[in-house]
Amino acid sequence: MCFSALALSALVLLPAAPLADDDAVTIALLDAVNPVREMPNEVLGHDVPISFLKTAPDPEKARLGRWLFFDGRLSGDSSVSCATCHIPEFGFSEPTPVSTGIRGQRGARKAPSFINAVWAFYPETFWDGRAADLEEQAIGPIANPIEMGSTHDVAVKSIAELPNYRPFFERAFGDREVTLDRVAEAIAHYERTRVSGNSRYDQWRELDDEDDAELWATLLSEEERLGEELFFGKALCATCHTGTSFTDSRYHNLGVGWDAETETFADIGRFEVTGEEVDKGAFKTPGLREVTLRAPYMHDGSEATLRDVMELYNKGGNANPWLSPKMKPLNLSEPEIDAIIAFMHAIEGEGYMDSAPARFP
Ligand code: HEC
Ligand code: HEC
Repeated sequence: MCFSALALSALVLLPAAPLADDDAVTIALLDAVNPVREMPNEVLGHDVPISFLKTAPDPEKARLGRWLFFDGRLSGDSSVSCATCHIPEFGFSEPTPVSTGIRGQRGARKAPSFINAVWAFYPETFWDGRAADLEEQAIGPIANPIEMGSTHDVAVKSIAELPNYRPFFERAFGDREVTLDRVAEAIAHYERTRVSGNSRYDQWRELDDEDDAELWATLLSEEERLGEELFFGKALCATCHTGTSFTDSRYHNLGVGWDAETETFADIGRFEVTGEEVDKGAFKTPGLREVTLRAPYMHDGSEATLRDVMELYNKGGNANPWLSPKMKPLNLSEPEIDAIIAFMHAIEGEGYMDSAPARFP
């Protein structure tokens, strides 16, 4: 749908004409509105410091990527940037069931968040995992006719022709060449800086309840503690939503999009990528940090609220021949459902929010 097998090798190399005199004042101003920032590293709630990871973001690349992520000039008519669909205030997702791209065209899936992707157990992206990593992913939307509607050549050229971008490519990559791979790499580094942690739940887990019973009880309400117990126990959520970002990054069939009458899926999901029978109607488990900002839910936005999501789980998903064996009717009471929803609010953290730089090169 978004993009098929992409030739990563289709580089557009432009001559790195040295720009004799950069406009030093403009460059300094740009530097000031989008400075190189300190990279997140130790984040409460995550066991592994980011600097230990192979994918730790580089500060210069992430800075360049921040501009590119918010820059509509990568699209065919300058109207659509990555942030048009991946909106910070909505956890880098969007408040609509499916995306609307260039010239008002609608896609078939909801824009997923990439918060905490730096810690992902598996690097593949998209609901069906068809891109190998964030770098490969970022190349897709630019030339997708219904997303950003440009071509790789045109998009890269439009960035390369802006003289003030080139000094920042030089700082990130060592020389001024603007290529598609570099654009994608810079954006991927930026995406990996969007992390969420230090939620009330993380703070609560850090405390020893015997030492600090009062604080322990104020950080999470009784209802939220019940929700935590259910999430990791009877409600089976943590069998898929596991790890410090609450996702196994694997693919499961919950029966979302199944039409019992025609016995078909509106979207076949992971099967399209692997051709494996077990992957029919399976989609990637989304992380749950900041999930409260991302309604409507699921790959097709078909569940309007967290309560609707819980009702689907409570009945054991939508029965279909490929339903995950992990999906079981849960027999949760209404107060138990409320408690699990309250728990999802308790894992709302900080550190992911951002906005477009005030000025672009
Ligand atoms: C028109 C809306 C739109 C635009 C513009 C857009 N995206 Fe997306 N993005 C989506 C949708 C929809 C998906 C899910 C598609 C799928 O899974 O098939 C997606 C998926 C992703 C994912 C995968 C996340 C995951 O967890 O698997 C990442 C990362 C991403 N986009 C980053 C970007 C970047 C970077 C740009 C700019 C170069 C961009 N997007 C532009 C709508 C958009
Ligand atoms: C069998 C694995 C599995 C189990 C068990 C599971 N989930 Fe999920 N969850 C998924 C997958 C896969 C999706 C995406 C499905 C889709 O879009 O088709 C998802 C989606 C969600 C979403 C929507 C997120 C978004 O960004 O749209 C929420 C919220 C959620 N799950 C919470 C829970 C809770 C709470 C539980 C326990 C009651 C639970 N899940 C149990 C795998 C699972």
